[in-house]
Amino acid sequence: MVFYFSGTGNSRFVARRIAKAVGQEAVDITAYTKTMERPEFTESGVYVFVCPSYMSAPARAMTDFLGWAGFPEGIKAYFIVTCAASMGITPKVYSELCEQKGLEYMGSAQVEMPQNYIALFTTKKVEENIDILEKAEIEIDRIIGLIVNGEVLETKKIGSLEYSVTKWVRDIYYKDFMKTKKFKATDKCIACRKCVKVCPLSNITMKDNRPVWGNKCTHCMACINQCPKDAIEYGKGTVGKPRYKGPESGV
Ligand SMILES: Cc1cc2nc3c(=O)[nH]c(=O)nc-3n(C[C@H](O)[C@H](O)[C@H](O)COP(=O)(O)O)c2cc1C
Ligand code: SF4
Ligand code: SF4
Repeated sequence: MVFYFSGTGNSRFVARRIAKAVGQEAVDITAYTKTMERPEFTESGVYVFVCPSYMSAPARAMTDFLGWAGFPEGIKAYFIVTCAASMGITPKVYSELCEQKGLEYMGSAQVEMPQNYIALFTTKKVEENIDILEKAEIEIDRIIGLIVNGEVLETKKIGSLEYSVTKWVRDIYYKDFMKTKKFKATDKCIACRKCVKVCPLSNITMKDNRPVWGNKCTHCMACINQCPKDAIEYGKGTVGKPRYKGPESGV
């Protein structure tokens, strides 16, 4: 089975490509996390999990899902991390989770994809992002070959100091900085509700024909990047910045 979490489509793109190559469907984990129904998976075969790196670790939506869902004992679990530069401590986070859940850890592979975190950074020019995607496709094909042959993905070793410091910074970031107070819709908003539909955490509602952000945000950047009118801003920092329209974005 191939599971994914994705804000702006990069991980969805990777998951669908892998799923197609192994003759399966790519499953969006938010189908389960939105309903809060605890799934119990029983299928045999390999399991692949695709998810972005957030603050040098897997997005919490995926680690929560892995901790909470039921999987067959001892299944082989592969992890693919999409990131703009580095997957950070992700391999250690996933290998520990596998140990806790009784899954066989088959390694983590990073796929460099375009930057989507426009609240903090700037995505590259369209042509540069196309180039990144072309290189990513070659890497995805290499990873597919390893999975199909049942090989372990090579994975970097994480030192205990790097692990503890990164986890500490990440926890603070989630607690104190992943807020929605700075999101607002400008007068360019046409009340199309796309932001409501693309939010993987169902964190946006409409009031008086304008989006309103709740408190469950994971800063995935789906709403701000996918608004068809570029009507969403995150404070002043995103004004005039290009939005990232990735492959497989939208719902
Ligand atoms: C909240 C947030 C944190 C991020 N942190 C990192 C990071 O630590 N390292 C990195 O290389 N990329 C980071 N990125 C970039 C994403 O990992 C990358 O663009 C990813 O492919 C987005 O996947 P998606 O389109 O499936 O959501 C971050 C993006 C977001 C939104
Ligand atoms: S996606 Fe953009 S235009 Fe559509 S409702 Fe949301 S803010 Fe308004
Ligand atoms: S509110 Fe926007 S940034 Fe936050 S989780 Fe939803 S789509 Fe992502």
